[in-house]
Amino acid sequence: MSKVRVTETVLRDAHQSLLATRMTLDDMLPILGKLDQVGYNSIECWGGATFDACLRFLGEDPWERLRTLRREMPNTRLQMLFRGQNMLGYRHYADDVVEEFVEKSVENGIDVIRIFDALNDIRNLQTAINAAKKATRDGKKAEVQVAMSFTTGEVFTDEYYVEYAKKIAAAGADSICIKDMAALLTPYRTAELVKAIKSEVDLPIDLHTHYTSGLASMCLIKGVEAGADIIDTAMSPLALGTSHAPTESMVAAFQGTEYDTGLDLVLLNEIRDYFMGLRKKYIESGLIDQKMLAADAGALIYQVPGGMLSNLLSQLKQAGKEDLLGEVLAEVPRVRKDAGFPPLVTPSSQIVGTQAVFNVLSGERYKMVTKEFKGVVRGEYGQTPVPIDPEFRKKIIGDAEPIDCRPADLLEPELEKLRKECADWAESEEDVLSYAQFGQVAVKFFEKRRDARFGLDGKHGDAASQIHPV
Ligand code: CO
Repeated sequence: MSKVRVTETVLRDAHQSLLATRMTLDDMLPILGKLDQVGYNSIECWGGATFDACLRFLGEDPWERLRTLRREMPNTRLQMLFRGQNMLGYRHYADDVVEEFVEKSVENGIDVIRIFDALNDIRNLQTAINAAKKATRDGKKAEVQVAMSFTTGEVFTDEYYVEYAKKIAAAGADSICIKDMAALLTPYRTAELVKAIKSEVDLPIDLHTHYTSGLASMCLIKGVEAGADIIDTAMSPLALGTSHAPTESMVAAFQGTEYDTGLDLVLLNEIRDYFMGLRKKYIESGLIDQKMLAADAGALIYQVPGGMLSNLLSQLKQAGKEDLLGEVLAEVPRVRKDAGFPPLVTPSSQIVGTQAVFNVLSGERYKMVTKEFKGVVRGEYGQTPVPIDPEFRKKIIGDAEPIDCRPADLLEPELEKLRKECADWAESEEDVLSYAQFGQVAVKFFEKRRDARFGLDGKHGDAASQIHPV
Protein backbone atom coordinates (compact mmCIF):
# COMPACT_ATOMS: atom_id res chain seq x y z
CA MET A 1 0.00 0.00 0.00
CA SER A 2 1.33 3.40 -0.87
CA LYS A 3 1.65 6.16 1.66
CA VAL A 4 -0.45 9.27 1.28
CA ARG A 5 1.64 12.27 0.31
CA VAL A 6 0.98 15.74 1.67
CA THR A 7 1.20 19.06 -0.16
CA GLU A 8 1.48 21.97 2.26
CA THR A 9 -0.40 25.10 1.20
CA VAL A 10 0.43 27.43 4.10
CA LEU A 11 2.73 29.58 1.96
CA ARG A 12 0.17 30.11 -0.85
CA ASP A 13 -3.48 29.07 -0.83
CA ALA A 14 -3.96 29.16 2.96
CA HIS A 15 -3.01 32.82 3.28
CA GLN A 16 -4.70 33.65 -0.03
CA SER A 17 -7.91 32.17 1.38
CA LEU A 18 -7.71 33.74 4.85
CA LEU A 19 -5.69 36.97 4.63
CA ALA A 20 -5.86 38.18 1.03
CA THR A 21 -2.37 36.76 0.28
CA ARG A 22 -0.57 39.24 2.51
CA MET A 23 1.96 36.93 4.18
CA THR A 24 5.39 38.47 3.55
CA LEU A 25 8.67 36.72 2.90
CA ASP A 26 9.88 38.09 6.26
CA ASP A 27 6.97 36.27 7.94
CA MET A 28 8.03 33.05 6.22
CA LEU A 29 11.81 33.12 6.63
CA PRO A 30 12.16 32.02 10.30
CA ILE A 31 10.24 28.77 9.74
CA LEU A 32 11.50 27.67 6.30
CA GLY A 33 14.31 25.55 7.74
CA LYS A 34 11.86 23.46 9.78
CA LEU A 35 9.32 23.22 6.93
CA ASP A 36 12.15 21.86 4.79
CA GLN A 37 12.67 18.96 7.24
CA VAL A 38 9.07 17.71 7.16
CA GLY A 39 9.24 15.63 3.99
CA TYR A 40 6.21 17.06 2.23
CA ASN A 41 5.31 15.93 -1.28
CA SER A 42 5.68 19.62 -2.12
CA ILE A 43 5.13 23.07 -0.63
CA GLU A 44 2.83 25.30 -2.66
CA CYS A 45 4.27 28.79 -2.46
CA TRP A 46 3.76 30.69 -5.71
CA GLY A 47 0.91 31.58 -8.06
CA GLY A 48 -1.29 34.37 -9.42
CA ALA A 49 -2.34 36.00 -6.19
CA THR A 50 1.04 35.72 -4.42
CA PHE A 51 2.75 37.21 -7.45
CA ASP A 52 0.18 40.03 -7.67
CA ALA A 53 0.24 40.80 -3.93
CA CYS A 54 4.07 40.90 -3.91
CA LEU A 55 4.16 43.60 -6.60
CA ARG A 56 1.01 45.49 -5.67
CA PHE A 57 0.98 45.52 -1.87
CA LEU A 58 4.15 44.10 -0.35
CA GLY A 59 6.90 45.80 -2.37
CA GLU A 60 8.52 42.40 -2.95
CA ASP A 61 9.94 41.02 -6.16
CA PRO A 62 8.03 37.74 -6.60
CA TRP A 63 11.00 36.19 -8.42
CA GLU A 64 13.32 37.12 -5.57
CA ARG A 65 10.85 35.52 -3.15
CA LEU A 66 10.90 32.33 -5.19
CA ARG A 67 14.72 32.23 -5.31
CA THR A 68 14.89 32.79 -1.56
CA LEU A 69 12.40 29.99 -0.86
CA ARG A 70 14.41 27.73 -3.16
CA ARG A 71 17.63 28.53 -1.29
CA GLU A 72 16.12 28.13 2.19
CA MET A 73 14.29 24.86 1.43
CA PRO A 74 16.79 22.87 -0.64
CA ASN A 75 15.20 19.49 0.18
CA THR A 76 11.62 20.29 -0.68
CA ARG A 77 9.84 20.50 -4.03
CA LEU A 78 8.27 23.91 -4.57
CA GLN A 79 4.89 24.12 -6.27
CA MET A 80 3.08 26.85 -8.15
CA LEU A 81 -0.42 27.42 -9.53
CA PHE A 82 -0.72 28.51 -13.16
CA ARG A 83 -3.89 29.48 -15.07
CA GLY A 84 -2.86 27.99 -18.41
CA GLN A 85 -3.01 30.50 -21.22
CA ASN A 86 -3.90 33.25 -18.69
CA MET A 87 -0.63 32.49 -16.83
CA LEU A 88 -0.99 34.49 -13.61
CA GLY A 89 -2.75 37.44 -15.21
CA TYR A 90 -6.25 38.17 -16.40
CA ARG A 91 -6.19 37.74 -20.19
CA HIS A 92 -5.02 35.21 -22.75
CA TYR A 93 -1.31 35.52 -23.60
CA ALA A 94 0.47 34.53 -26.77
CA ASP A 95 2.30 31.19 -26.68
CA ASP A 96 5.79 32.71 -26.66
CA VAL A 97 5.07 34.51 -23.36
CA VAL A 98 3.54 31.39 -21.78
CA GLU A 99 6.56 29.30 -22.80
CA GLU A 100 9.03 31.84 -21.46
CA PHE A 101 7.16 32.17 -18.17
CA VAL A 102 7.08 28.42 -17.55
CA GLU A 103 10.77 28.08 -18.38
CA LYS A 104 11.76 30.93 -16.04
CA SER A 105 9.55 29.62 -13.21
CA VAL A 106 11.35 26.27 -13.25
CA GLU A 107 14.75 27.89 -13.66
CA ASN A 108 14.13 30.09 -10.60
CA GLY A 109 13.01 27.23 -8.36
CA ILE A 110 9.63 25.64 -9.20
CA ASP A 111 9.45 21.82 -9.25
CA VAL A 112 5.72 21.17 -9.57
CA ILE A 113 3.52 23.25 -11.87
CA ARG A 114 -0.22 22.90 -11.32
CA ILE A 115 -1.98 24.14 -14.44
CA PHE A 116 -5.72 24.67 -14.84
CA ASP A 117 -8.32 26.35 -17.04
CA ALA A 118 -11.56 27.86 -15.75
CA LEU A 119 -13.59 26.26 -18.58
CA ASN A 120 -11.74 22.92 -18.48
CA ASP A 121 -10.79 23.51 -22.13
CA ILE A 122 -7.71 21.34 -22.61
CA ARG A 123 -6.61 23.49 -25.58
CA ASN A 124 -5.97 26.36 -23.16
CA LEU A 125 -3.52 24.12 -21.27
CA GLN A 126 -1.53 22.47 -24.03
CA THR A 127 1.11 25.19 -24.53
CA ALA A 128 1.77 25.40 -20.80
CA ILE A 129 1.92 21.60 -20.50
CA ASN A 130 4.38 21.29 -23.39
CA ALA A 131 6.57 24.06 -21.99
CA ALA A 132 6.53 22.54 -18.50
CA LYS A 133 7.55 19.14 -19.87
CA LYS A 134 10.56 20.72 -21.52
CA ALA A 135 11.66 22.92 -18.64
CA THR A 136 14.58 21.82 -16.44
CA ARG A 137 16.71 23.16 -13.59
CA ASP A 138 20.15 21.59 -13.11
CA GLY A 139 19.09 18.93 -15.57
CA LYS A 140 16.04 17.96 -13.51
CA LYS A 141 12.55 18.00 -14.97
CA ALA A 142 9.51 19.54 -13.31
CA GLU A 143 6.32 17.63 -12.50
CA VAL A 144 3.40 18.70 -14.67
CA GLN A 145 0.14 18.50 -12.75
CA VAL A 146 -3.11 19.41 -14.48
CA ALA A 147 -6.05 20.43 -12.32
CA MET A 148 -9.69 19.95 -13.28
CA SER A 149 -11.95 22.72 -12.00
CA PHE A 150 -14.58 20.86 -10.00
CA THR A 151 -18.14 22.10 -10.08
CA THR A 152 -21.66 20.78 -9.80
CA GLY A 153 -24.57 20.78 -12.25
CA GLU A 154 -26.28 18.33 -14.55
CA VAL A 155 -23.41 17.99 -17.04
CA PHE A 156 -20.66 17.61 -14.43
CA THR A 157 -21.06 13.89 -13.90
CA ASP A 158 -18.27 11.48 -13.05
CA GLU A 159 -18.24 10.60 -16.77
CA TYR A 160 -17.55 14.23 -17.67
CA TYR A 161 -14.53 14.27 -15.34
CA VAL A 162 -13.31 10.86 -16.50
CA GLU A 163 -13.39 12.11 -20.10
CA TYR A 164 -11.49 15.24 -19.09
CA ALA A 165 -8.99 13.14 -17.11
CA LYS A 166 -8.32 11.08 -20.24
CA LYS A 167 -7.62 14.25 -22.22
CA ILE A 168 -5.30 15.44 -19.44
CA ALA A 169 -3.40 12.16 -19.52
CA ALA A 170 -3.17 12.28 -23.33
CA ALA A 171 -1.86 15.84 -23.13
CA GLY A 172 1.14 14.56 -21.17
CA ALA A 173 0.39 15.40 -17.52
CA ASP A 174 2.31 13.58 -14.76
CA SER A 175 -0.53 13.86 -12.24
CA ILE A 176 -4.12 15.09 -11.93
CA CYS A 177 -5.55 17.42 -9.33
CA ILE A 178 -9.24 17.57 -8.46
CA LYS A 179 -9.48 21.25 -7.68
CA ASP A 180 -12.54 22.09 -5.60
CA MET A 181 -11.98 25.79 -5.02
CA ALA A 182 -15.62 26.44 -4.12
CA ALA A 183 -15.87 23.62 -1.54
CA LEU A 184 -18.69 21.87 -3.39
CA LEU A 185 -17.33 18.34 -2.90
CA THR A 186 -19.03 16.10 -0.37
CA PRO A 187 -17.29 13.04 1.11
CA TYR A 188 -19.27 10.44 -0.85
CA ARG A 189 -19.08 12.32 -4.13
CA THR A 190 -15.32 12.55 -3.61
CA ALA A 191 -15.05 8.78 -3.20
CA GLU A 192 -17.12 8.10 -6.34
CA LEU A 193 -15.21 10.63 -8.41
CA VAL A 194 -11.76 9.39 -7.37
CA LYS A 195 -12.77 5.77 -8.03
CA ALA A 196 -14.19 6.65 -11.43
CA ILE A 197 -11.06 8.48 -12.55
CA LYS A 198 -8.69 5.88 -11.05
CA SER A 199 -10.46 3.09 -12.91
CA GLU A 200 -9.80 4.73 -16.28
CA VAL A 201 -6.62 6.80 -15.92
CA ASP A 202 -3.34 5.61 -14.43
CA LEU A 203 -2.03 8.86 -12.93
CA PRO A 204 -1.58 9.96 -9.31
CA ILE A 205 -4.54 12.01 -8.02
CA ASP A 206 -4.12 15.04 -5.80
CA LEU A 207 -7.17 16.24 -3.85
CA HIS A 208 -7.57 19.97 -3.36
CA THR A 209 -10.65 21.09 -1.47
CA HIS A 210 -11.46 23.98 0.84
CA TYR A 211 -12.96 23.87 4.34
CA THR A 212 -15.62 26.51 3.61
CA SER A 213 -18.62 24.20 4.00
CA GLY A 214 -17.00 22.20 6.80
CA LEU A 215 -16.49 18.98 4.83
CA ALA A 216 -12.86 19.09 3.67
CA SER A 217 -11.28 16.59 6.06
CA MET A 218 -14.10 14.10 5.47
CA CYS A 219 -13.66 14.52 1.71
CA LEU A 220 -9.92 13.87 2.03
CA ILE A 221 -10.45 10.70 4.08
CA LYS A 222 -13.02 9.27 1.68
CA GLY A 223 -10.90 10.33 -1.28
CA VAL A 224 -7.79 8.62 0.10
CA GLU A 225 -9.75 5.43 0.83
CA ALA A 226 -10.91 5.54 -2.79
CA GLY A 227 -7.33 5.78 -4.07
CA ALA A 228 -6.24 9.44 -4.01
CA ASP A 229 -2.46 9.70 -3.69
CA ILE A 230 -1.88 13.26 -2.50
CA ILE A 231 -3.83 15.61 -0.22
CA ASP A 232 -3.54 19.39 0.05
CA THR A 233 -3.56 20.66 3.64
CA ALA A 234 -2.56 23.74 5.63
CA MET A 235 -0.75 24.05 8.97
CA SER A 236 -3.55 24.29 11.56
CA PRO A 237 -3.18 27.99 12.57
CA LEU A 238 -4.02 28.91 8.96
CA ALA A 239 -6.41 26.02 8.24
CA LEU A 240 -10.22 25.65 8.41
CA GLY A 241 -12.72 28.31 7.36
CA THR A 242 -12.15 29.21 3.71
CA SER A 243 -8.71 27.52 3.86
CA HIS A 244 -7.91 23.79 3.95
CA ALA A 245 -7.99 20.83 6.31
CA PRO A 246 -5.29 21.07 9.03
CA THR A 247 -2.04 19.29 8.15
CA GLU A 248 -1.38 17.89 11.63
CA SER A 249 -4.93 16.52 12.02
CA MET A 250 -4.79 14.76 8.66
CA VAL A 251 -1.36 13.30 9.46
CA ALA A 252 -2.75 12.05 12.80
CA ALA A 253 -5.88 10.65 11.11
CA PHE A 254 -3.81 8.37 8.86
CA GLN A 255 -1.16 7.41 11.43
CA GLY A 256 -0.76 3.67 11.92
CA THR A 257 -2.98 2.86 8.93
CA GLU A 258 -2.03 1.68 5.46
CA TYR A 259 -2.23 5.33 4.40
CA ASP A 260 0.25 6.62 7.02
CA THR A 261 1.92 9.78 5.68
CA GLY A 262 5.11 9.11 7.65
CA LEU A 263 5.30 12.76 8.69
CA ASP A 264 6.50 13.62 12.21
CA LEU A 265 3.77 15.09 14.40
CA VAL A 266 6.28 16.44 16.92
CA LEU A 267 8.09 18.43 14.25
CA LEU A 268 4.76 19.64 12.83
CA ASN A 269 3.77 20.77 16.30
CA GLU A 270 6.91 22.91 16.55
CA ILE A 271 6.01 24.47 13.21
CA ARG A 272 2.50 25.04 14.50
CA ASP A 273 3.85 27.16 17.37
CA TYR A 274 5.46 29.50 14.89
CA PHE A 275 2.34 29.90 12.75
CA MET A 276 0.21 30.48 15.88
CA GLY A 277 2.25 33.63 16.41
CA LEU A 278 1.51 34.77 12.86
CA ARG A 279 -2.18 33.93 13.26
CA LYS A 280 -2.39 36.08 16.38
CA LYS A 281 -0.67 38.94 14.58
CA TYR A 282 -2.99 38.70 11.55
CA ILE A 283 -6.14 38.59 13.69
CA GLU A 284 -5.00 41.57 15.77
CA SER A 285 -4.17 43.62 12.68
CA GLY A 286 -7.53 42.74 11.11
CA LEU A 287 -5.93 40.86 8.18
CA ILE A 288 -7.85 37.75 9.22
CA ASP A 289 -11.58 38.37 9.55
CA GLN A 290 -13.00 35.93 12.12
CA LYS A 291 -16.01 35.40 9.86
CA MET A 292 -13.74 33.59 7.38
CA LEU A 293 -13.02 30.96 10.03
CA ALA A 294 -16.60 29.71 10.49
CA ALA A 295 -18.00 26.80 8.49
CA ASP A 296 -20.77 27.85 6.08
CA ALA A 297 -22.73 25.25 4.12
CA GLY A 298 -24.50 27.98 2.13
CA ALA A 299 -22.52 27.11 -0.99
CA LEU A 300 -24.00 23.61 -0.91
CA ILE A 301 -27.55 24.95 -0.67
CA TYR A 302 -27.30 27.55 -3.42
CA GLN A 303 -24.71 25.67 -5.50
CA VAL A 304 -22.77 28.86 -6.01
CA PRO A 305 -19.36 29.54 -4.42
CA GLY A 306 -19.42 31.56 -1.19
CA GLY A 307 -17.54 34.49 -2.74
CA MET A 308 -20.05 34.67 -5.58
CA LEU A 309 -23.00 34.69 -3.17
CA SER A 310 -21.59 37.67 -1.28
CA ASN A 311 -20.88 39.47 -4.59
CA LEU A 312 -24.48 38.99 -5.73
CA LEU A 313 -25.77 40.28 -2.44
CA SER A 314 -23.57 43.38 -2.55
CA GLN A 315 -24.58 44.15 -6.17
CA LEU A 316 -28.25 43.93 -5.17
CA LYS A 317 -27.67 46.05 -2.07
CA GLN A 318 -26.14 48.80 -4.23
CA ALA A 319 -29.32 48.81 -6.29
CA GLY A 320 -31.47 48.75 -3.13
CA LYS A 321 -32.98 45.43 -4.29
CA GLU A 322 -31.80 42.92 -1.70
CA ASP A 323 -35.27 41.39 -1.72
CA LEU A 324 -34.55 40.03 -5.22
CA LEU A 325 -31.76 37.68 -4.08
CA GLY A 326 -34.06 34.66 -4.39
CA GLU A 327 -34.91 35.54 -7.99
CA VAL A 328 -31.27 36.11 -8.87
CA LEU A 329 -30.27 32.76 -7.34
CA ALA A 330 -32.94 31.11 -9.48
CA GLU A 331 -31.68 32.97 -12.56
CA VAL A 332 -28.02 31.97 -12.09
CA PRO A 333 -28.49 28.33 -13.22
CA ARG A 334 -30.51 29.49 -16.25
CA VAL A 335 -27.82 31.96 -17.33
CA ARG A 336 -25.17 29.35 -16.74
CA LYS A 337 -27.07 26.88 -18.93
CA ASP A 338 -27.42 29.50 -21.71
CA ALA A 339 -23.68 30.16 -21.49
CA GLY A 340 -22.75 26.47 -21.97
CA PHE A 341 -22.37 25.51 -18.28
CA PRO A 342 -19.05 27.18 -17.37
CA PRO A 343 -17.73 26.06 -13.97
CA LEU A 344 -18.36 28.94 -11.57
CA VAL A 345 -14.81 30.04 -10.82
CA THR A 346 -12.98 33.30 -11.47
CA PRO A 347 -13.70 34.83 -13.93
CA SER A 348 -16.82 32.94 -15.08
CA SER A 349 -18.52 33.23 -11.67
CA GLN A 350 -18.47 37.03 -11.86
CA ILE A 351 -19.57 37.04 -15.51
CA VAL A 352 -22.54 34.70 -14.98
CA GLY A 353 -23.50 36.32 -11.65
CA THR A 354 -23.52 39.87 -13.03
CA GLN A 355 -25.56 38.82 -16.06
CA ALA A 356 -28.11 37.13 -13.79
CA VAL A 357 -28.39 40.33 -11.73
CA PHE A 358 -28.93 42.38 -14.92
CA ASN A 359 -31.56 39.94 -16.19
CA VAL A 360 -33.55 40.26 -12.98
CA LEU A 361 -33.11 44.00 -12.38
CA SER A 362 -33.94 45.06 -15.95
CA GLY A 363 -37.11 42.97 -15.92
CA GLU A 364 -36.23 41.39 -19.25
CA ARG A 365 -33.68 38.64 -19.84
CA TYR A 366 -30.61 39.79 -21.85
CA LYS A 367 -32.01 43.28 -22.39
CA MET A 368 -28.62 44.45 -21.10
CA VAL A 369 -25.64 42.21 -21.81
CA THR A 370 -22.15 42.76 -20.37
CA LYS A 371 -19.06 42.79 -22.58
CA GLU A 372 -17.65 39.84 -20.68
CA PHE A 373 -20.79 37.76 -21.10
CA LYS A 374 -20.65 38.43 -24.84
CA GLY A 375 -17.02 37.30 -24.71
CA VAL A 376 -17.90 33.94 -23.14
CA VAL A 377 -20.73 33.37 -25.63
CA ARG A 378 -18.49 34.33 -28.54
CA GLY A 379 -15.81 31.84 -27.46
CA GLU A 380 -13.16 34.32 -26.35
CA TYR A 381 -12.35 32.26 -23.25
CA GLY A 382 -12.38 28.90 -25.03
CA GLN A 383 -14.86 26.10 -25.48
CA THR A 384 -17.60 25.86 -22.87
CA PRO A 385 -18.37 22.41 -21.41
CA VAL A 386 -21.58 22.28 -23.49
CA PRO A 387 -21.86 23.95 -26.93
CA ILE A 388 -23.88 27.17 -26.90
CA ASP A 389 -27.15 27.18 -28.85
CA PRO A 390 -26.43 29.04 -32.15
CA GLU A 391 -29.72 30.93 -31.94
CA PHE A 392 -28.91 32.18 -28.44
CA ARG A 393 -25.41 33.13 -29.55
CA LYS A 394 -26.81 35.16 -32.45
CA LYS A 395 -29.13 36.97 -30.07
CA ILE A 396 -26.21 37.91 -27.79
CA ILE A 397 -23.36 38.70 -30.21
CA GLY A 398 -25.32 39.61 -33.35
CA ASP A 399 -23.17 39.38 -36.47
CA ALA A 400 -19.84 39.17 -34.63
CA GLU A 401 -17.78 36.18 -35.76
CA PRO A 402 -17.86 33.33 -33.21
CA ILE A 403 -14.46 31.95 -32.16
CA ASP A 404 -14.19 28.19 -32.24
CA CYS A 405 -10.44 27.77 -32.48
CA ARG A 406 -8.14 27.90 -29.45
CA PRO A 407 -8.35 31.60 -28.50
CA ALA A 408 -4.55 31.98 -28.31
CA ASP A 409 -4.27 30.91 -31.96
CA LEU A 410 -5.53 34.39 -32.80
CA LEU A 411 -2.64 36.05 -30.94
CA GLU A 412 0.62 37.10 -32.57
CA PRO A 413 3.85 36.47 -30.63
CA GLU A 414 4.15 39.34 -28.17
CA LEU A 415 7.28 38.81 -26.07
CA GLU A 416 9.44 41.14 -28.19
CA LYS A 417 6.85 43.90 -28.02
CA LEU A 418 6.56 43.52 -24.23
CA ARG A 419 10.36 43.66 -23.87
CA LYS A 420 10.43 46.96 -25.75
CA GLU A 421 7.53 48.42 -23.77
CA CYS A 422 9.27 47.98 -20.44
CA ALA A 423 12.88 48.44 -21.58
CA ASP A 424 13.31 51.52 -19.36
CA TRP A 425 12.57 49.62 -16.18
CA ALA A 426 13.23 45.93 -16.73
CA GLU A 427 16.56 44.65 -15.46
CA SER A 428 15.98 41.02 -16.33
CA GLU A 429 13.83 38.71 -18.41
CA GLU A 430 11.93 37.95 -15.18
CA ASP A 431 11.03 41.65 -14.93
CA VAL A 432 9.62 41.52 -18.46
CA LEU A 433 7.38 38.65 -17.39
CA SER A 434 6.22 40.57 -14.30
CA TYR A 435 5.40 43.48 -16.58
CA ALA A 436 3.61 41.21 -19.08
CA GLN A 437 1.15 40.21 -16.40
CA PHE A 438 0.70 43.21 -14.22
CA GLY A 439 1.57 46.18 -16.47
CA GLN A 440 1.56 49.47 -14.56
CA VAL A 441 1.52 47.69 -11.19
CA ALA A 442 4.86 46.16 -12.14
CA VAL A 443 6.19 49.49 -13.41
CA LYS A 444 5.38 51.16 -10.08
CA PHE A 445 7.21 48.34 -8.32
CA PHE A 446 10.28 48.75 -10.59
CA GLU A 447 10.35 52.49 -9.86
CA LYS A 448 10.15 51.93 -6.11
CA ARG A 449 12.87 49.30 -6.31
CA ARG A 450 15.16 51.74 -8.12
CA ASP A 451 14.38 54.54 -5.67
CA ALA A 452 15.17 52.25 -2.74
CA ARG A 453 18.52 51.37 -4.26
CA PHE A 454 19.48 55.05 -4.37
CA GLY A 455 18.03 55.65 -0.93
CA LEU A 456 15.22 57.75 -2.37
CA ASP A 457 12.49 55.78 -0.62
CA GLY A 458 12.84 57.80 2.59
CA LYS A 459 14.03 54.76 4.57
CA HIS A 460 17.72 55.57 4.70
CA GLY A 461 18.05 59.02 6.23
CA ASP A 462 18.71 62.12 4.21
CA ALA A 463 19.26 60.35 0.94
CA ALA A 464 18.68 63.30 -1.36
CA SER A 465 21.60 65.18 0.12
CA GLN A 466 23.85 62.14 -0.32
CA ILE A 467 23.17 62.02 -4.04
CA HIS A 468 23.24 65.78 -4.60
CA PRO A 469 25.72 67.04 -2.01
CA VAL A 470 25.20 70.71 -1.29
CO1 CO B 1 -7.57 26.52 -3.60
